[in-house]
Amino acid sequence: MPTNVKFAPRRLGHLNLFVSDVERSAAFYRDVCGFKEVFREPEISMIFMTNGNTHHDLGLMEITPEDRVGRDGHVQVRPGAGKTPGLNHLGFEMQTEAALVDAYRRALKQKVPVSRTTDHQIAHSVYLSECNGHFFEFYADIIEDFSAFYAENQGALISGHWDPEQTAPSEDARFPKDPDLFKSNDAVLTSRNVAYAGLPVKDLQASIDYYADVLGLNAVQVDHESKFAVLEGSAQGGCDVCLMETTEFPATRLLFGGVNLHDGKALTDALKVLESKRIPASFIGDTELSCIVVLDPDRIPLVYSTSPAGRLMARHGPAVVAEIRRLWASNADEANAATL
Ligand SMILES: [Fe+2]
Repeated sequence: MPTNVKFAPRRLGHLNLFVSDVERSAAFYRDVCGFKEVFREPEISMIFMTNGNTHHDLGLMEITPEDRVGRDGHVQVRPGAGKTPGLNHLGFEMQTEAALVDAYRRALKQKVPVSRTTDHQIAHSVYLSECNGHFFEFYADIIEDFSAFYAENQGALISGHWDPEQTAPSEDARFPKDPDLFKSNDAVLTSRNVAYAGLPVKDLQASIDYYADVLGLNAVQVDHESKFAVLEGSAQGGCDVCLMETTEFPATRLLFGGVNLHDGKALTDALKVLESKRIPASFIGDTELSCIVVLDPDRIPLVYSTSPAGRLMARHGPAVVAEIRRLWASNADEANAATL
């Protein structure tokens, strides 16, 4: 196994999801979940949503049998992917472009396959498949004012090839620092930011070792009995990835996306509204640590909570996954039936 590549991202920045109907999903994430649309690329059926935590918390791309091609013929979706709804990739935020390029060089030197390198004009990115086949993006922001960039480029294709060796990488940390976050007053759930994700893995210990060595994401809590681990990036104190050993990989390729809520509406009140709209959802937890699990229109599961994610997942992670499996099974015939 290669060692010491250690991308060591600060944190999870976004979920990029393949969806069957991008307009329907954007409406769901706006009206039900409280995210704001900030940018779209109609030529590749892509909509970006964020409340300001980073340039996008959610990238929604409509599935298609065709290739997704960006600027200059840059193919944005790996061969074979993008045909069914579910996880496209997780996007991890790096401290600086220099840290990203250093890790990229270590990966090449230690023969870790890099899938592609991309210039998004907002960020530079390195993509790779991790040891279970999940697709990851490590990105470094190259501009600080993404709102101005979006305003100037609305509707345009923005992503093309990036050569990490062409120019000297910046040493500046350009990720948003203490941003003013939008809070929807109309949505059922008042999402603050996407913060973590749960992934299925084939071998928990081998995956924990790989994530530490290659990705630089370290296990801070391991439940050997349930085969569930909580990992975090270098901006410590949160929870960025949860891994669960399972032989049954879900069709969505994602156990769940984790979303922090603004404080406000009680989860139990939100649950009643979700049920009235026939949106599959469940409450999990206790008086101290709790969350709501919701299936989106493609049955992609999201966990919404105001509880600290690390403690929530350490205590209730396996129960959350069990409840998601129950929701999947009990709504198997109602896929895409959720109404807004
Ligand atoms: Fe991404």
